[in-house]
Amino acid sequence: METIQFKIKERESRVELPESLGFGKIFTDHMFEMDYSEKLGWHNPTIRPVEDLPVHPASMFIHYGQAVFEGLKAFRQQSGDVVLFRADKHFERLNNSSRKICIPEIDVDFAVEALKELINIDKDWIPTKHGESLYIRPFIYGVDPFLGVKPAKEFKFILLLSPVAAYYPEGFKPVKILVTDEYVRAVRKGLGDCKTPANYAASLMAGQTAIKKGFTQVLWLDGVEQKYIEEVGTMNIFINLKNEIVTPKLNGSILPGITRRSVIEILKEWNMNIVERNISINEVVDAYDNGELVGVFGTGTAAIISPVGWLTFKDKQMTLNDGQPGELDKKLFEELTSIHYGLKEDTHNWLIHVEQKEVVTS
Ligand SMILES: Cc1ncc(COP(=O)(O)O)c(C=O)c1O
Repeated sequence: METIQFKIKERESRVELPESLGFGKIFTDHMFEMDYSEKLGWHNPTIRPVEDLPVHPASMFIHYGQAVFEGLKAFRQQSGDVVLFRADKHFERLNNSSRKICIPEIDVDFAVEALKELINIDKDWIPTKHGESLYIRPFIYGVDPFLGVKPAKEFKFILLLSPVAAYYPEGFKPVKILVTDEYVRAVRKGLGDCKTPANYAASLMAGQTAIKKGFTQVLWLDGVEQKYIEEVGTMNIFINLKNEIVTPKLNGSILPGITRRSVIEILKEWNMNIVERNISINEVVDAYDNGELVGVFGTGTAAIISPVGWLTFKDKQMTLNDGQPGELDKKLFEELTSIHYGLKEDTHNWLIHVEQKEVVTS
């Protein structure tokens, strides 16, 4: 691939990493930005200081939600190397989301190169402690000002970086989940398999209701029959049964998680019986009653693995593994984080190395 020429408008670094990073609250010095128009296609790739965006009040994404986003991470390994986890797969998924809502696709290789360039410029912002990382938020939105419902003609693609804390600073913490049959997140042939704001807007009321009742998040059932398990909060879900590990088959309303995909590959390598199929909430309740439910866990970029300690469906309350993380959950978390931080060889070629070099501004 040819070298990409970016316009780089640099500002003096003001790296200030607070003791408590939290999640998504702090942003690095720079962002990457690129524009799209019908005439020029994607053009004007620029790295510039993070600042407010000029947005016309009639911008189409504000009114009709024509936007897509991603969430991925970069890690600083003990050697000082900086790596991205499956960034290519995240940009491919961004394109899959874009296709469904009439947003022009980006070039995946170009996006990976742009991201590497941006991270190199802000590399001092990458936290160094084990478990911490640099969260990356790519997003695209329709900008042209027009108040009718139709696809936008102009778009902006942005890469934003945010240093984040370890998800489990004090060790694995199982979550308390409410199975909701009051709300649905997405329906087949809708937007559930896209990372687009509409899905997250649709999830807010259910999430808040669960929190008010003392739960951490909700488990989503399918939008048609409210019978089959789909996802947990903003994670994919795995049900560990006595003779098989089940994760819901991708059906159009489930987001195809990159962590889900990685966990499936690891479980296959470990010769475990991982099956992608429909699984109803009643089957899970029966398995619990018969002593065949070993555990439940969620998978996603933020938490990596999130053990479910308690599951409530209507008046059925289930305590899983005495509210403790399961052996498999711990093993998978260890495996994935060891790959991230370079403690284990990346035999799958999931990591993309960010070359650290001098920055040349123009
Ligand atoms: C709705 C939803 N499901 C699943 C996931 C997990 O996907 P990934 O493993 O790619 O982070 C996410 C997070 O991106 C999500 O928002």
